[in-house]
Amino acid sequence: MATLISDTAPWKDMKAHVGEIDKTHLRDLMTDTERCKSMMTEFDGIFLDYSRQRATGETISKLFTLAEAANLKKKINSMFNGEHINSTEDRSVLHVALRASKDTTINSDGKNVVPEVWQVLDKIKEFSDKVRNGSWIGATGKALTNVIAIGIGGSFLGPLFVHTALQTDPEAAKSAGGRQLRFLANVDPVDVARNISGLDPETTLVVVVSKTFTTAETMLNARTLREWVSSALGPQAVSKHMVAVSTNLKLVEKFGIDPNNAFAFWDWVGGRYSVCSAVGVLPLSLQYGFSFVEKFLKGARSIDQHFHSAPFENNIPVLLGLLSVWNVSFLGYPARAILPYTQALEKLAPHIQQVSMESNGKGVSIDGVRLPFEAGEIDFGEPGTNGQHSFYQLIHQGRVIPCDFIGIVKSQQPVYLRDEVVNNHDELMSNFFAQPDALAYGKTPEQLQSENVASHLVPHKTFTGNRPSVSLLLPSLDAYRIGQLLAIYEHRIAVEGFIWGINSFDQWGVELGKSLASQVRKQLHASRNKGESVEGFNFSTTKLLTRYLEASADVPSEPTTLLPKI
Ligand code: F6P
Repeated sequence: MATLISDTAPWKDMKAHVGEIDKTHLRDLMTDTERCKSMMTEFDGIFLDYSRQRATGETISKLFTLAEAANLKKKINSMFNGEHINSTEDRSVLHVALRASKDTTINSDGKNVVPEVWQVLDKIKEFSDKVRNGSWIGATGKALTNVIAIGIGGSFLGPLFVHTALQTDPEAAKSAGGRQLRFLANVDPVDVARNISGLDPETTLVVVVSKTFTTAETMLNARTLREWVSSALGPQAVSKHMVAVSTNLKLVEKFGIDPNNAFAFWDWVGGRYSVCSAVGVLPLSLQYGFSFVEKFLKGARSIDQHFHSAPFENNIPVLLGLLSVWNVSFLGYPARAILPYTQALEKLAPHIQQVSMESNGKGVSIDGVRLPFEAGEIDFGEPGTNGQHSFYQLIHQGRVIPCDFIGIVKSQQPVYLRDEVVNNHDELMSNFFAQPDALAYGKTPEQLQSENVASHLVPHKTFTGNRPSVSLLLPSLDAYRIGQLLAIYEHRIAVEGFIWGINSFDQWGVELGKSLASQVRKQLHASRNKGESVEGFNFSTTKLLTRYLEASADVPSEPTTLLPKI
């Protein structure tokens, strides 16, 4: 009978330790310089300060004991060794192989996968160079300067995050040289309209990205843009204007995309961990050139090596993962705010939401035993300072939400104004430095009284403080640093799952909604085309569907094609 981590002595010891921590306040913990010094670490330019965690040296050493009880080191090694740690899908979990150097050996099922990875990377380099230098042209002889990448979930959020982060990097922007990269994810036709708006099929390349090549949203969007291309340029244009990224090359061919124009990846790459495969590398190379993407892969690789080999005491993803477990499972804080102090990271939180919540939002252990504790965390976030004027009120005086503050030393786009007190980036960073202390220290009624605040306002202006955060400081935000940041979060989330004893690499929870949608789809077809009444649903859904059908009775039921005109 498998043991749940919550049945072990180190877990129970941590539970008991909460009482000790409850006697402390960050205001006091922060006065202990030795403690603070011991809660800072650095690797390859990335500086982590976790001194504003509700934790002492004792907490950290207890977390290491918990890690031992959970076999964390062994589980990390099993991942890097290509063992089938995704047991419910019987697969290895090898996104680290996607960014390994050519001379590395990483085996999955007895085969070194690195040569195949590089075969695809070399193919992407060749193809993206051709498109960028105009030797691969569209059906009417024009250069393809625009790319629409169709995909959803892991086939969208990671590439969008990296693209958004690179967009304002001066070198990357120069290399993009006026090219456009857009992402079509939602099955909503409004998203189609937004994506094709202002684009000419003659100069557009469509990249269909889907691990399975069966995802309903992506396939309908792919058929829609195939129609967009072929109705403008003729069906023969599809081979020049549409390429694909998938593990399912048979379905790619069946769809009508030339297999030579398909870029493979493998079932040992989870969708949400696939940005370093052709899923991200192809669209990003088309936009910025392969050399930028290679730097991104190198950044991720630097953290992979650190995660695999650094002692836990200064292993950034391990420390962050253990602290998250501490916050969620012991201090009882179910959420986490991701707060990058740079607009370039505006899509970090949406990407990490999928990586974290699809990975760790589980109710049973890897052996199928219902968990007696809550796993996973609720992730959300916005760049600072925008978030400060939105949800920070709740973070400061309402619920306790552990925060990740991410700051950048050198702005991608500095602004200096002659008569200002500080330059614009320093203004932004003043907030990055101030917010963690405001959360940790708060403001006491005594302080308010000494400032002569009217007594009826004292409760309203009091900040309890004692609210935990971590601060990550990056020297800059270029392709390499973006890769590092990505890998830090990926591995931190794996650490959390390894401690909780769950399978962080499957996603059965997304299936039920999909199958119910297919029942609705059949009903909509039958009602619109054969006038059948709504049947087989509960009262509420029947009512809603009937109302929807009646109110949209003017929708054409005859076979007809209509594309957005915008
Ligand atoms: O939402 C479920 C999911 O399977 C994700 O895990 C995945 O990233 C997404 O759908 C897209 O899947 P695919 O790449 O196969 O189209």
